[in-house]
Amino acid sequence: MVFKNGGTFSRSRRIRMQVAAAITVAASAIALSGCSSSGGGSGSGSGGSSGSTAAASGNATKGSITWWASPITTSGTDPRTVLISAFEKAYPNISVKLVSAPNDTDTNRATLTTQISGGGGPDVYMGDVIWPAQFGAHQLAAPLSKYLPQSYWNTFANGLVAGATYKNQVYGAPFFEDQGFLYYRKDILQADGMSVPTTWDQLVSDAKTAQSKGQVKYGYVFQGADYEGATCNYMEFLADAGGKVLNSNATKSALDSSAAVKALTFEQSLVKDNIAPAASSTFQETQAMNTFSAGDSLFLRNWDYAYSTSQASGSNVIGKVGVAPMPTFSGQSTPGYSNIGGWNLYMNPHSKNQAADLTFIKWMTGNDAQKTLATQFSEIPTNQAVRTSSDVKNANPVLAIVSKTKLIARPSQTPNYPEVSKAIYTAVNGVLSGSTTPSAAIKTASNSINTAVSNGGL
Ligand code: GLC
Repeated sequence: MVFKNGGTFSRSRRIRMQVAAAITVAASAIALSGCSSSGGGSGSGSGGSSGSTAAASGNATKGSITWWASPITTSGTDPRTVLISAFEKAYPNISVKLVSAPNDTDTNRATLTTQISGGGGPDVYMGDVIWPAQFGAHQLAAPLSKYLPQSYWNTFANGLVAGATYKNQVYGAPFFEDQGFLYYRKDILQADGMSVPTTWDQLVSDAKTAQSKGQVKYGYVFQGADYEGATCNYMEFLADAGGKVLNSNATKSALDSSAAVKALTFEQSLVKDNIAPAASSTFQETQAMNTFSAGDSLFLRNWDYAYSTSQASGSNVIGKVGVAPMPTFSGQSTPGYSNIGGWNLYMNPHSKNQAADLTFIKWMTGNDAQKTLATQFSEIPTNQAVRTSSDVKNANPVLAIVSKTKLIARPSQTPNYPEVSKAIYTAVNGVLSGSTTPSAAIKTASNSINTAVSNGGL
């Protein structure tokens, strides 16, 4: 992850060094063994093109694989099928069958873990950036750093490989990065003589103005449902307020703080004061996106793809949308924090097609696929060359903002992150739906987090 906050930087650097060391060891092991591994598995049927060297480095040209991936966008052309067609054109003897995964990352994970731990599941899957610790610890993903060389890992933007690493092995190939952004209605801000808000106070006051003039029904839409997305949104408010979830070695909760209560009280006020819809406690990305695209909200908090989706046919806000870094609380340095999300490509340890899996993973993280994701679907590419190329930057307005964002990662370095996150989103959702108060919810969440980390920690 591209940590920019001092607290987590040294950890990320440490991990990066460990990863580099691990990869060197893995690469020399492959060299020494004459590449006898075809991906560690039951490689039969994988049809590697020229023996095991090709298989180990992702150069196989034959095979047939299944790819499990949730929809990357919420409307418009499906990036998954665009990418598969281009891949099959480049590799006519590898066929890819798409298995459409659930949209909600939690349901996606639950379905997948049941399948893989039962010995089945897809060959390659698109999985969340928060999964490496849990999936690595429970053998739900193959350690890709054993199969793909250091030169491959060097192609990624700084920090992403570290984020996909658990105990010195890289489990996921970074496929696209997500960050939280503030989307706004350019036309309304301009009509009312308002500038893009850099503080939450300003956002609320702009929202009230536009709502009172009847220009929009809502001021702000975000993700507050009982799921992972609510954790992502809360991480931003929490970091803006100066709070943290875990102590520095991830052994104890650090959530029971006045900053955490301040963050949640503000989030609650958005709903209480009718800036955000009363139904915010049921909103995932899709509902927030649809409300904004319908023209019903002045502001939207969403990930990178939201720009392209807001401009897809059927949207009522084509040509009217701007994108900016998130706001923060008054008195804090701007901008506010953006949570880091994104998706990696993982290989099922039970896959019988590992040689072709590796070819597919390599291609999907290479120039052509990454350029498609960035220019057609406003995703942040993980491939450094694509990310910095000027024609890609010109075609993706979200990328222009990436150099200005301030990032906060979720504390997913512990295999028990699912429980940690559940504690957070349960608290947020309870407050937004009116069943508890910010201070009571934070206390309960903090206790649950302590239980979760004491059950395993790192
Ligand atoms: C996006 C992010 C992912 C996050 C999810 C939450 O898909 O990329 O990291 O967990 O949203 O809904």
